[in-house]
Amino acid sequence: MHVPAAADSTAFQPLTLGPLTLRNRFIKAATNEGASRGGLPTKQMVRLHESLAAGGVGMTTVAYCSVSADGRTLPDQIVLAPDTLVHLRRVVEAVQRHGAAASAQITHGGCFTFLPPQQTARPLSASGGFNKVGVMSGMWRKQAMSEADLQQVASEFVRGARLAREAGFNAVELHMGHGYLLSQFISPLYNKRHDQYGGSLENRLRFPRLVLRQVLDAVGKDLAVLCKYSITEGVRGGNNGEDGAAIARMLEAEGAHMLVLSAGMNVESTSTTFGSTFPKENRVKTGNALVNAAMFLKNLSEPTIAFRELYLLEQARLVRAAVKLPLAYIGGVKSLDGIEQLMHEGFDAVALGRVLLAEPDYVNKLHSGTSRDSICTACNRCVAMMYTPGGTSCVLGAPGDALLNSQAAAS
Ligand SMILES: Cc1cc2nc3c(=O)[nH]c(=O)nc-3n(C[C@H](O)[C@H](O)[C@H](O)COP(=O)(O)O)c2cc1C
Ligand code: SF4
Repeated sequence: MHVPAAADSTAFQPLTLGPLTLRNRFIKAATNEGASRGGLPTKQMVRLHESLAAGGVGMTTVAYCSVSADGRTLPDQIVLAPDTLVHLRRVVEAVQRHGAAASAQITHGGCFTFLPPQQTARPLSASGGFNKVGVMSGMWRKQAMSEADLQQVASEFVRGARLAREAGFNAVELHMGHGYLLSQFISPLYNKRHDQYGGSLENRLRFPRLVLRQVLDAVGKDLAVLCKYSITEGVRGGNNGEDGAAIARMLEAEGAHMLVLSAGMNVESTSTTFGSTFPKENRVKTGNALVNAAMFLKNLSEPTIAFRELYLLEQARLVRAAVKLPLAYIGGVKSLDGIEQLMHEGFDAVALGRVLLAEPDYVNKLHSGTSRDSICTACNRCVAMMYTPGGTSCVLGAPGDALLNSQAAAS
């Protein structure tokens, strides 16, 4: 069926973010590709991001690049290190060949780690004490970061951003949401400190701001520096939409080039991130017993929430009203009507996760008028596909290539 093309939509106009201009406003949101082995991206990673770039996005995001081996959440996660660069370059070149930009999501997991004790020195966090996630990995206790730890981890983010620049990336996205280390500082659920890094929201933002400032100083003239954070944590006692707007003001004051407006926390409120719970019939068993146990416990504790399009719009509007810097809306974008609404409401970009897993060429389809609504059913089964041999894929299509996913990108 032919439908009117969206080519004249604002979403197809270029967008400038600091030193970077994107060809359009469609960004592939970071979705852990399950396509790294032993800290290196695989050929399947190259294939995935190349298909997104060929499919029309302005920028694609390589998820989950850890700034240090200790900062990994999962054992195979990409680690930003000199030896990784040759492999990352393959990913970046494949993306840029098609006229898109590449962003590296850079993270430190803090206490949100499934590494066994022998693989990491200690699970750092804003505060010490019992470590919920560590129940599954044997890391029962987390450790409050000292001033020296803070400086060390900030320098790791800087080194990671410099390495991303060396690999040819056009942008870095600092992960400040979902329960990773930087959000463990921002969240009152995790941050119980009594020093200048804890207490008020302003104090809780001090360390993430310091990281942002140092990364901007190091690479901000060459790369766009984005922050992805949780505009609401979706759980009692956590940051709410008003906090989300206040956080945006602080990140804007620090000089971020764009904010990516996600929500929710990995342990406490995944359904806030995804806008829906994981239906029982769709729960896929992974090969990883720890992850199975984690998913089971979480599913038990979360109320059932039905998906709706643009499910984070109400909270995102609070942020839009509070700041002037570019904002990328994320959460349940799945039709041209939704995208037009977001452009009309003043969002500068749309970040899409599941829709682009289902149809990597969705942007081209919109542009040509061959599609208007995504085929994604928001079933969330792709989340468990992360742990399959072929890596993350949509269950409506073919699984990833397990052989390509066993070979390092530049091998
Ligand atoms: C399979 C999968 C993996 C994800 N992995 C990440 C990740 O590594 N980092 C991240 O910030 N968000 C991750 N997310 C969350 C997405 O970036 C996005 O916030 C969420 O899917 C909502 O956007 P959507 O409605 O467009 O899918 C993941 C989502 C999915 C579906
Ligand atoms: S697996 Fe389900 S939620 Fe994921 S992309 Fe496919 S249809 Fe969408």
